[in-house]
Amino acid sequence: MLFSLSWRYLKKHIWALLAVLILQLAATIAALQLPTLNARIIDEGVATGNTAIIWTLGVEMLVIAASQMLCTALAIYLGARLAMSTGAQLRTQIFQHIHTFAAQDIHTYGTGSLITRSTNDVQQVQQSLTLFLNLMIGAPIMGIGGVLMAVRQDLHLGLVLALLVPALALLVAFVMKHLSPLFQLQQERIDTMNTVLREELTGIRVIRAFIRQAFIRTRYIHANTELRTTAMSIATWFSFFFPAVTLVVSLGIVGVIWYGGILINSGTLKVGVMIAYITYVTMISMSVIMAGMLFVTIPRANVAATRVAHVLDHAPSVSNPNDTTALPLGRWTFAAEDASVRYHGAEEPVLDDISFTLRPGTTTAIIGATASGKTTLVNLLPRMMDPSSGRLTASGVPLTELPISEIRKRIALVPQQAYLFSGTIASSVSGIRTPTPAQRERIIWALKGAQAEEFVNSLDEGIDHVVEAGGTNFSGGQRQRLTIARALYRAADLYIFDDSFSALDYATEAQLRLALPEYTQGAAVLIVAQRVASIRHADEILVLDSGRIVGRGTHRDLMSTCPTYKEIVDSQLFEEDAA
Ligand SMILES: Nc1ncnc2c1ncn2[C@@H]1O[C@H](COP(=O)(O)OP(=O)(O)OP(=O)(O)O)[C@@H](O)[C@H]1O
Ligand SMILES: [Mg+2]
Repeated sequence: MLFSLSWRYLKKHIWALLAVLILQLAATIAALQLPTLNARIIDEGVATGNTAIIWTLGVEMLVIAASQMLCTALAIYLGARLAMSTGAQLRTQIFQHIHTFAAQDIHTYGTGSLITRSTNDVQQVQQSLTLFLNLMIGAPIMGIGGVLMAVRQDLHLGLVLALLVPALALLVAFVMKHLSPLFQLQQERIDTMNTVLREELTGIRVIRAFIRQAFIRTRYIHANTELRTTAMSIATWFSFFFPAVTLVVSLGIVGVIWYGGILINSGTLKVGVMIAYITYVTMISMSVIMAGMLFVTIPRANVAATRVAHVLDHAPSVSNPNDTTALPLGRWTFAAEDASVRYHGAEEPVLDDISFTLRPGTTTAIIGATASGKTTLVNLLPRMMDPSSGRLTASGVPLTELPISEIRKRIALVPQQAYLFSGTIASSVSGIRTPTPAQRERIIWALKGAQAEEFVNSLDEGIDHVVEAGGTNFSGGQRQRLTIARALYRAADLYIFDDSFSALDYATEAQLRLALPEYTQGAAVLIVAQRVASIRHADEILVLDSGRIVGRGTHRDLMSTCPTYKEIVDSQLFEEDAA
């Protein structure tokens, strides 16, 4: 998976990739020449006192060493660049792809995991790719080349290699076999840590208010301890591995010197060759260790790559049509035809056979108890999710045949959860980082409609006042009004207010309702509310009860035809009188 995932990006940089491979190859071949040259300097130059040959071979060695350095430096630079750009592209892709996800898709992974996947997992892929690009050519060539070059120098001493190489390979295999599952475990535990930490930071006020610190701390300590235990096991294996390798390699060198000494004494081996052998033994050992590193990082990066690819290949449950129908002309009339929604794993449908039409210039209201399915219904219109059966249409055209962005452009939504992005009031309302003077005029106009002008004016910087992430530096009611202004700023065919007046006092709500027609300019308006006062003037009221429409009509009609509606009204009578 690591390779197929990386290949998606590397194939665009095939030339850089080839350059890395060729440079690595050149560097390794150069490195392999050096011990042989060294041996010749000793045996042909030093031993015989031939200064001329020492000079020529010396210069040759210098040139080869310099070009090896140059090739290696270039290869590492290019390789790192390739790996980094692959990482950056992966992150961008994940980010963009997650933005096409519907709520259910996000839920499939969990926010914590999506964050780990786009940060830590991509990092793993990037790191192992760097390692891979550096060692992929170097390790095998250095290993095999080292053996060949050494044996070419002297066959007898090859006996030491025949013992050393399998011993090293066994050692590396043994350690890596134990390390691989630990790496995988570590990855999972990082995931858990992220999830726990994220939840704690998000809910920090609740944790304090309900004095859950001890509970939360235990949970965090548990996750942290587990991660530490895994990391410690990994470290312990490494602390065994490196000394063990050093021991085996040193034994190999001792073997070369001991056996080489015997051979030199008997006159069948030259001193330079023996020294070259020692260098080759070191090089071969290095390559075995490098191969081991590759074998351990690749499975680990594979886990990460699979997790990344899973997100990238996840088809969003709400997607754009392949070929789109012509857009309906004029103002769109949104409608639902027998739409039902059933959440995954739920027995009862949340919405059951819902039909309605939202005509331009009219106000439709939805009233219903908590959890009756109001927000779910609202989410169907901008295609935050699709109905399980039935359909939604815009001027008769099914929404599934229209581009999603086109649909959302026509809808100005005030969600139930008032969420603001960090920036300024101006940028939050308009969605533009630096609005022009004309746009600023419109922002002020929208704020006025949302009954937010007064409190915004009381701020020193006015509409340039800072908004913190989520809008947490505002009160619930202020935040709600800013999200209303954000919707009013836009020219749309349908304005949806999902329980958007709940945090406003009665007087403010009444003023807002009065101002609304000027802003919605003949568009359709859909108001979701719990309070009868918010909706009694609507042209049509839908009464929702456990996902079914149990009554529809004007306030006056419903009072006589719909017992559920009358119950709601009666229960709120006192409040309304007070208002
Ligand atoms: N993502 C989801 N997965 C499963 N069930 C869900 C999901 N979202 C909502 N529900 C369920 O659907 C039902 C209706 O929820 P919905 O948010 O539409 O109600 P609502 O009428 O807007 O309530 P409120 O007045 O509290 O805003 C609830 O029982 C809720 O548990
Ligand atoms: Mg709701």
